[in-house]
Amino acid sequence: MTTPDVTASLTPTAAEPQPGGFTAELVRQDFPVLHRTVNGRPLIWLDNAATTQKPRQVIEALTAYYGTANSNIHRGAHTMAREATEAYEAGRAAVADFLGAPSPDDIVFVRGTTEAINLVAQTWGRANLGPGDDILVPVLEHHADIVPWQLIAKETRARVVPVPLTPYGEIDQDAYADLLSSRTQLVAISHASNVLGTVPPVKEMTALAHRYGAKVLVDGAQAVAHFPVDVQDLNADFYAFSGHKLFAPTGIGALYTRPEILAGMAPWQAGGNMIESVDFGKTTFAAAPHRMEAGTGHISGVIGLLAAVNWLTSLDRAAVAAYEEALMSYALQALATVPGLELIGSAPDRIAVLTFTLAGQDPATVADWLDRDGIAVRAGHHCAQPALAHYGLESAARASLALYNTSDEVDRLVASLRGLQESV
Ligand code: ALA
Repeated sequence: MTTPDVTASLTPTAAEPQPGGFTAELVRQDFPVLHRTVNGRPLIWLDNAATTQKPRQVIEALTAYYGTANSNIHRGAHTMAREATEAYEAGRAAVADFLGAPSPDDIVFVRGTTEAINLVAQTWGRANLGPGDDILVPVLEHHADIVPWQLIAKETRARVVPVPLTPYGEIDQDAYADLLSSRTQLVAISHASNVLGTVPPVKEMTALAHRYGAKVLVDGAQAVAHFPVDVQDLNADFYAFSGHKLFAPTGIGALYTRPEILAGMAPWQAGGNMIESVDFGKTTFAAAPHRMEAGTGHISGVIGLLAAVNWLTSLDRAAVAAYEEALMSYALQALATVPGLELIGSAPDRIAVLTFTLAGQDPATVADWLDRDGIAVRAGHHCAQPALAHYGLESAARASLALYNTSDEVDRLVASLRGLQESV
């Protein structure tokens, strides 16, 4: 039996346009789960903002890793340890390329966006925030980009200052400019909202924050699967994302940090891998990024993330973004024909996150009804209670689209919602 060369098969390749051009039908063939049925109906996965499905390339990379190449990294003096280390570091290099980061050393692997933000709050935040400092957080943020700031603000006696939204669900740029001051130490913004779909002008907001000497953290959890990101063009100080929203496994994500900031950040957690030398008198730490990665990392997660990044960047990303934009316009028009349906948020720059209420129906009932038709949507507060409260809501239903969704699926969503309205 020949052993597959796992590291070679996972080495990042340059992005090349998909032969024949991008089509949703073509990419759907890569996703086994999209061919299952749910409650006797073909699955329609419209819960992509919660998590994306995985292409066979990711599933096969995990199987190959565990079937032929499992080893710990960075410490074993044997062939498989070296192979696993190479694959892990190839993952770091691929993520750096994917984000336009200057070097793989700027990338720290984390569990996901939530851990990345907590890491920044507990390390950079603890060292740099103090009484009277402001952390500006737009009202549309996910709880993961609110609560870590509240905790560290309490500890350091800094303030978390909400930046209000316009009625359309955009960040109020006039209010933002007014709230910025020499007290502002950090601005924490989502690159795309998980509940309103809004894509704020992050580059401009970052430039403005920098004029006051503030740092900017960008939560890219909802952005990276939908449009190309360049952290140097954005000039972000921190950029975080989760692999599982990018067609990769759960439990792995990445944090980019501007190198001069990362160099000064204290360790996040302590243990193996992150040290240079340990002595009961004095312990010294490894250089970044390893200083931030205590213990055995999520090696298979990184292998899966590498496969996902290679898969996504093998597509024509401009064509993907154009397709998603056209599908969103179609969905917005189609949903507007459902009696009693009200969409939440209408920012002109947005991704296809379609949050809505249906007159006379509880959002949980809507999700239940759709599930019976094999359609997966999320219902609830979407971990963004302040954003929903802005619209006077505690709960809503949400259909979130990805590159493998089709207009036929949107038609089935609309037909099912109409069926619910007609059933009462
Ligand atoms: N943040 C994920 C969502 O919006 C879980 O559903």
